Amino acid sequence: MILNSHLMLCCLFIYLNAQWYQQSAYLIQNKLFIESTGLGTTYQTEGFINSTQQLSANFINCATPNTSYITLNSKNTSAQKDSPQLIPSGGIISFDLYFHDNWLNEAVTFTIESFYYTYTYTSPTTYPSSIGFCNSTPYEVKTINFTVTSQVSGYIKFSTNVAGNGQVSIRNIIFSQYKMNCFPTCSTCTGPEYNQCTTCYQGYPTHNICPQCPLNLFYRQNQGCKQNCPFSEQKYVNGFCQTQLQSYHISAGFWQFVIQSSSPPPSIFSQYSLIYDPQNIDTSPQVVQNGPTYLFGIFKLNSGPYRFIIISRNLNNYLIGLKIQLLIFDNIPLGCGVQIKINNTYYGSIFSTNSEVLSHKFKIEEVNIQSTCISPYISCQLYKLYGSFDIPPYSFLLTVQGNYTQSQSLQKTQKFGSWMGCKLY
Ligand SMILES: *[C@@H]1O[C@H](CO)[C@@H](O)[C@H](O)[C@H]1NC(C)=O
Ligand SMILES: *[C@@H]1O[C@H](CO)[C@@H](O)[C@H](O)[C@H]1NC(C)=O
Ligand SMILES: *[C@@H]1O[C@H](CO)[C@@H](O)[C@H](O)[C@H]1NC(C)=O
Ligand SMILES: *[C@@H]1O[C@H](CO)[C@@H](O)[C@H](O)[C@H]1NC(C)=O
Ligand SMILES: *[C@@H]1O[C@H](CO)[C@@H](O)[C@H](O)[C@H]1NC(C)=O
Ligand SMILES: *[C@@H]1O[C@H](CO)[C@@H](O)[C@H](O)[C@H]1NC(C)=O
Repeated sequence: MILNSHLMLCCLFIYLNAQWYQQSAYLIQNKLFIESTGLGTTYQTEGFINSTQQLSANFINCATPNTSYITLNSKNTSAQKDSPQLIPSGGIISFDLYFHDNWLNEAVTFTIESFYYTYTYTSPTTYPSSIGFCNSTPYEVKTINFTVTSQVSGYIKFSTNVAGNGQVSIRNIIFSQYKMNCFPTCSTCTGPEYNQCTTCYQGYPTHNICPQCPLNLFYRQNQGCKQNCPFSEQKYVNGFCQTQLQSYHISAGFWQFVIQSSSPPPSIFSQYSLIYDPQNIDTSPQVVQNGPTYLFGIFKLNSGPYRFIIISRNLNNYLIGLKIQLLIFDNIPLGCGVQIKINNTYYGSIFSTNSEVLSHKFKIEEVNIQSTCISPYISCQLYKLYGSFDIPPYSFLLTVQGNYTQSQSLQKTQKFGSWMGCKLY
């Protein structure tokens, strides 16, 4: 056991190493280009154009390898991208220049906005190679890289002042960025280690070390100390909530409800059914949109949705993790709540007491106040609930049912202060 946890520690640190991130890349694949002209043209040269005319940039075609190359020479002196690019401060640019024919102290310049980088080249008496570039053309390839020190945005452009018969072909243009991964307790840092913090998610650094959580709280990486670990990171190792590598998401089928789209997917109704409150049959709940997300419906009293969760794999050694999001409109009335059932057996709930909203057998991961709320409700709060249950590894019916009672005073005005919508996955 102890051995295991030391192993985790080592891997955690490896994972934390700072990294290069590729932002975008052009002209990296073998592809034959097609010449195109005119305004509004989709230039089939990966968007590289002749910067003075509405014309694709000059290119040469090769059979071995079977590809085209954007190529500059004394007649076609530049090639520019047809859409702008943003390069952040510290961004790294690299590309390959294939020089062929004769170069005499002549230059190739990369430009974006006010930034430029010039590479000057003189060809040798005999080129070092004639295999690999284009058929059997003798050439020399130079890989250029440099850093942009402050953010620039504009059209990238390559140009040359070559006067003789020298030509240069451009390939493998890559924009990348250095990004520091701080230790999970540091919100800013000078390096990836635990003692290289400048500010903390929780508390303040002492000798550049951020404090751990008090004993009763859990450290969510890159967030701070919370009552519990999030649903997706149920393992608590080395003082951090971490992802359980071996997990099986029975939730997959519910994800579509969270996806933002302009209209509910047509299949949405076949995915769940409604439980009616026998005293107050209400067939109105249907899929509704609240801000960017879809809800199964807005429910009142003892109604709610249910759905069959199909478990098709053998899950003998797994706990079933359930994550349920409830959007509570206005407040849960005192003494009321929402229950979660598996195969019609009660498994947990949230409910309102005098002073607060509590949960039973489920944990409240987060409560988010929503900025938009369906009229006529004044406030909306999204409760993210989760729980792990040791139930037999078979398919089951999952039910979310309101336990709202209609209070006397509310009855008079025929208004239900709080209804609920829910989303399961
Ligand atoms: C060369 O590549 C093009 C596509 O870019 C393809 O249509 C063509 O068949 C290839 N030719 C050879 C000889 O592989
Ligand atoms: C210049 O570019 C045009 C258009 O791509 C091409 O037709 C012409 O042959 C090029 N000239 C030279 C010298 O490469
Ligand atoms: C654009 O193409 C024309 C026609 O091929 C050519 O004469 C001109 O030099 C090219 N311009 C640049 C900047 O390459
Ligand atoms: C940039 O080029 C230098 C050598 O000139 C090399 O050491 C370095 O690894 C290159 N960096 C990248 C990001 O390619
Ligand atoms: C509703 O909640 C109350 C306690 O808050 C509980 O006694 C009652 O059994 C619940 N009703 C249903 C239908 O589960
Ligand atoms: C739920 O009920 C169905 C139908 O009775 C049954 O086949 C299934 O095994 C039950 N699932 C669980 C987890 O108990």
